[in-house]
Parts: sequence; structure tokens; C-alpha cells
Amino acid sequence: MTAPRASSATPIAARAHGAHHGEHGEHAARTDPGGAAVTLERVTKTYGRVTALDNVSWTFRRGTFTAIMGTSGSGKSTFLHCASGLDRPTSGTVRLGDTELGTLKETDLTRLRRDRVGFVFQGYNLVPSMDVERNITLPLFLGGRKADRRWLTEVVHRVGMAERMDHKPSQLSGGQQQRVAVARALVTRPEIVFADEPTAALDPRTAGHVLRLLREAVDQTGQTVVLVTHDPAAAAWADTAVFLSEGRIVDELAAPTAAAVLTRWETL
Ligand SMILES: Nc1ncnc2c1ncn2[C@@H]1O[C@H](COP(=O)(O)OP(=O)(O)OP(=O)(O)O)[C@@H](O)[C@H]1O
Ligand SMILES: [Mg+2]
Repeated sequence: MTAPRASSATPIAARAHGAHHGEHGEHAARTDPGGAAVTLERVTKTYGRVTALDNVSWTFRRGTFTAIMGTSGSGKSTFLHCASGLDRPTSGTVRLGDTELGTLKETDLTRLRRDRVGFVFQGYNLVPSMDVERNITLPLFLGGRKADRRWLTEVVHRVGMAERMDHKPSQLSGGQQQRVAVARALVTRPEIVFADEPTAALDPRTAGHVLRLLREAVDQTGQTVVLVTHDPAAAAWADTAVFLSEGRIVDELAAPTAAAVLTRWETL
């Protein structure tokens, strides 16, 4: 956690991250840093002859920010889908806190996901017939919860979508749709946020806003964030970078800098 970040390719992001770090350490100490947010044990997922995840075991601790990296097709999205209960592994177990997902009926799994998990899909998955506001507040509506108007307004502003609340997804650019997807995942302040390349369609400045929101979810509210990214500069916002190759975890890097991630990437 104390590794210097001066070598990061994004000095602004790296400085902001560094400034948060002490704060994060103190917060984590107060909120049981050893507690497991999500645990995967020997998780395998096969699609026909393709083994997308191969016997993966990993624990995401509460109040941590993890970046998952790996080449296209290495199993990152499959990992996120299994870890979040969106998809059931072929074998192995997944626990969210103390709840073993494999034992839950579909309706209970759906409710648990709705109440405790935020997910930013790689393909956004916005509802085409709903405007931005309804898309963002959909998880609240489905959970029968009232919007915390202050937080809703803040999230919407922070992702830069305040002027577009009455637009339909088809009227938005790809990056705008992605930002709506990020706001939707954060609006319920879920225990754990899974974000599948949530900055892939964004310019570096807008990406920085989104990454800062994710970082603050960890530092200020003790949420757990799991971010899939191809971008070493984005990974530098995380506490740990995990490298996937052919469905297996092959390496991890604590306090990743963009430069260190790039170096590690070259040996994948
Ligand atoms: N629903 C599916 N049916 C069949 N094969 C699948 C399915 N989903 C994923 N796969 C296969 O599993 C492997 C891992 O896919 P996954 O989407 O997890 O990769 P990824 O690391 O997220 O890639 P990318 O960076 O391109 O998003 C790939 O070989 C893919 O073709
Ligand atoms: Mg993917």
C-alpha cells in the first residue's frame, strides 16, 4: 500500500489515489479489514468445450478495490458473473459475505443481487424504453426503496448526466450510456460493486471521474469494488491488480502503478 506511485502514466489519477490512501487505511481498520465480501472456492465455469474459468479461488475483502486484468477471452467477465451470482459456476462455491450463492433459489438469488450487489455490464444493459432517470433508479424501484435524492443527484452530476435525465438510451452516445450504467450500479450504495470495463468508452478525464467515484465508494463508505479493466492507468486506482490468463489467476500485484501493471502485462 505504500509503494510510490510516481511512475504512473496518469499523474493526476495517481496523485488523487495516493491522497486517498491514508484515509482508506484508517477506514479499513475500523471496518474489519479481514472480513470477506466475496469468496470463490475452486470455481470452474465451462461452456461446452471451452473452460472459461478454471478452478479459481479468491477472496475479495471488505472495503477493498481490486482490478482484474487479462487478455480478451481470459475469463474476466465470466469471473465477474460467477462472483456476483449473475451466473452459476459449473463447479465450486461462491459466498457473498456468509451466504453461499449455490444454495439459493433463483428468486432469492435475484433479491440478494438487487439488495447487495451493483453491476456495471460490459454491454451496459440499459432498458431501451426507459429514460436515463428511470434506468438509474430501476434497482431502487425493483427493491421497493425510495431514492436518496441527495445521493441520486450527486451521482448523476458526478457522471455528468444531469442534463440528459429525460433521454432514452438510443439518444445517448456510447460513453454516456456507460456513465448511466455506472450511476445505476452505485445508486443503491451496494455492499459490493462489480464493474466490467466501466471506462472502456470514456475519455481519460471522464474515466477519471468514474474511477474516483469507485475509489470513494471504498474509502468513504467501506464498499467493495471489483473492476475489470484493460487500462493500466485505471488499475492504478485499485489496491490490488489480479491477472487472469486462460481462466486462471496467474499473478497479483499490490498497490499497482500503471508502469508496474504494464511490465507485468508483458509477461502474461
Ligand atoms: N455464454 C457463453 N457461451 C459460450 N462461450 C462463452 C460464453 N461466455 C463466455 N464464453 C467463452 O469463455 C471465454 C471467456 O470469456 P469472457 O467473456 O469471460 O472473457 P473476457 O476476459 O471478459 O474477454 P473480453 O476482454 O473480450 O471482454 C471465452 O473463450 C468466451 O468465448
Ligand atoms: Mg469481458
